[in-house]
Amino acid sequence: MQVKLSDLGMRQRPSDITRLMTFALKQPNMLSLAAGFTDNESLPIEDIRELVEEIADSGAKGKTTLQYGTNKGRDRLRSLLAKRIRSLDTIHESQLDEKNLFISNGSQQALYLAIQTLCDPGDFVLIEQPTYFVFLEILQGFGVNAVAMPMREDGEIDLAGLERLLSQFESTGNLDKIKALYLVSYFSNPSGHCVSEKVKSDIGSLLSRQKVPIAVIEDAAYRELYYQHPFESRSTVVLESFNQLPVLYTSTLTKPYASGLKVGYAYCSDTKWLNSMLSVKGKQDFGTANFAQAILEYALASGRFDTHLTSLRGLYQSKMLTLHESLGDSLKSLGWEWEEPKGGLYLWLKSPNEMRTDGESQFHKSCIENGVFYVPGNLCHHGNEIRSQIRLSFGSLNLADIREAANRFLAAAESMTVSAIT
Ligand SMILES: Cc1ncc(COP(=O)(O)O)c(C=O)c1O
Repeated sequence: MQVKLSDLGMRQRPSDITRLMTFALKQPNMLSLAAGFTDNESLPIEDIRELVEEIADSGAKGKTTLQYGTNKGRDRLRSLLAKRIRSLDTIHESQLDEKNLFISNGSQQALYLAIQTLCDPGDFVLIEQPTYFVFLEILQGFGVNAVAMPMREDGEIDLAGLERLLSQFESTGNLDKIKALYLVSYFSNPSGHCVSEKVKSDIGSLLSRQKVPIAVIEDAAYRELYYQHPFESRSTVVLESFNQLPVLYTSTLTKPYASGLKVGYAYCSDTKWLNSMLSVKGKQDFGTANFAQAILEYALASGRFDTHLTSLRGLYQSKMLTLHESLGDSLKSLGWEWEEPKGGLYLWLKSPNEMRTDGESQFHKSCIENGVFYVPGNLCHHGNEIRSQIRLSFGSLNLADIREAANRFLAAAESMTVSAIT
């Protein structure tokens, strides 16, 4: 007899990217520019050895890190993270209360809890184009509709277009079904784009004028993974125009330190929403692994975290430049376009003449035949509408493999040009 799943259970489907990766990675010698993994070589295993010793040497306090912790997360870690946001946003203690901050299993869990507690099936969430594709999968899993906000050429949200979109929802009586607006605001996955403070502020003003509360989810997963300078834009947590709006700010300790520890955090300005998320988390896991949190707490407190992060910034910049320069003029002369990001883990490419690059396309097949694999950009667009973009991740391959992967990518691109001519 077959199990009978709930509506939610029935809606779940295997993620497209996992399916494509399983297929591609079966090919021998495949180089993957697809997975958003971090660098392997630099993972801070020596730090961890020292941190575990430090914890073990700290008596009873150290021992209890192996005990269950609290649902919200370790007090000192939460306090250190609140301080971190305050320092990034240059604000005073009174403007950000750590009691509104909780620790999650990666920022992924916080995003999931946010949608779970805000949305019912049939509701709407406003998203950028392109956006983080796993967020799109969360929405799909809950039966929530993604609504693409109109975007400008420069990658910013088109405010006038957004205003028109909201008016359309209002005129059809559906405005109250829009529950949230999701922003990947720093060195975005996938585009590397950062949202300017002016655009953020204008979004806050526009949303504040609406008749219904539309929550803002600001995903700042890559905020600290800049190469040279932080992006000068304060977060929605502190911008005045968001004062009256429910805001959730999510970020993570995975990408900037050790993704295997899987610890993230979230600050929520709205107590009712926060308590609801915490209540669900209480039933899911009643707290993120205490020991993993303790490692990160000690890493932050001892300065090891920041030392490591500083070295990662240089490393990712050199990886980005290696990929960028290896594709370089040769790919650009074929009509491909991309910008050099100033942080994050991705290059975002547009193909010439809107040539298809999705998982079913000839170009995708050609890349796989050449032994290189990428994320088709259509997965990052609601409804798979745009099929001529590509996300390349340079996080996990070493420099030599990045060069080789770029050569293979180039060979595939050249073969398409030849076949278009012949
Ligand atoms: C934009 C964005 N948000 C959130 C996450 C979740 O990361 P984690 O759960 O490791 O914090 C990712 C991971 O790739 C991401 O790219």
